[in-house]
Amino acid sequence: MSKRIEVRDLDVYYGKFKAVEGITLNIEPRSVTAFIGPSGCGKSTFIRTLNRMHEVIPGAWVDGEVLIDGSNLYEAGVDPVLVRRQVGMVFQRPNPFPTMSIRENVLAGVKLNNKRLSKSDADDLVERSLKGANLWNEVKDRLEKPGSGISGGQQQRLCIARAIAVQPDVLLMDEPCSALDPISTLAIEDLIEELKTEYTIVIVTHNMQQASRVSDRTAFFNIAGTGQPGKLIEYDDTSTIFSNPSEQSTEDYVSGKFG
Ligand SMILES: Nc1ncnc2c1ncn2[C@@H]1O[C@H](COP(=O)(O)OP(=O)(O)OP(=O)(O)O)[C@@H](O)[C@H]1O
Ligand SMILES: [Mg+2]
Repeated sequence: MSKRIEVRDLDVYYGKFKAVEGITLNIEPRSVTAFIGPSGCGKSTFIRTLNRMHEVIPGAWVDGEVLIDGSNLYEAGVDPVLVRRQVGMVFQRPNPFPTMSIRENVLAGVKLNNKRLSKSDADDLVERSLKGANLWNEVKDRLEKPGSGISGGQQQRLCIARAIAVQPDVLLMDEPCSALDPISTLAIEDLIEELKTEYTIVIVTHNMQQASRVSDRTAFFNIAGTGQPGKLIEYDDTSTIFSNPSEQSTEDYVSGKFG
């Protein structure tokens, strides 16, 4: 289930623009890793390379390797669709399928994977996934209503339910709580804590408290200036990054002096 991620010498481009440079890091299974750093340093760009979502943008490409349990995602012949099945993603802005019901949204990824489910298995999966995302009580009486007809915070939890319904090995979350109220945010953090017993989790967050609450390891990224590529500055246990970092820029960032 849970898998190890190894990134080696990764550069990430939009056409000629190098947005992220020289990333090498390992992410252990059954752990939560937080990516932090100022706006524009390439956190979203980098996280999208971990399931080949980066290249869906025209002209976008990478140089380097990303290995999941030893196999390079970028090797010739690897099907990006299969990669995305293994490595699920929750985005910064909630993106439920607007024409589908809440129930259909939860099952959407499972159906894409061509899994045939009996009605009662599907019902169980919908209930389990929505409970897991702390949304069940709010939507259980309107599962057939459109996924777009709920609040932004509810929509994000619906997207989390959709991602976990397919039981991926790795779950990538790009600021999954930025549209959520504090109660829902804490519920998602509890959920992340539960999910890490089964999944490898990577979360981008601007919320320092959240990074220190939920993650085991933290990667700090920074950018030298406009037009420069973002770089990984420091990667260590979360407690070290927040209490005793090696780099001055990490210290400045986590203590709120910039960014
Ligand atoms: N589709 C795109 N085409 C060209 N450049 C892009 C694209 N998306 C992002 N960039 C550029 O890549 C760099 C990194 O952006 P990215 O969105 O990864 O930053 P981020 O760290 O996630 O920022 P934020 O914290 O604001 O979400 C920025 O210079 C940005 O303008
Ligand atoms: Mg971003």
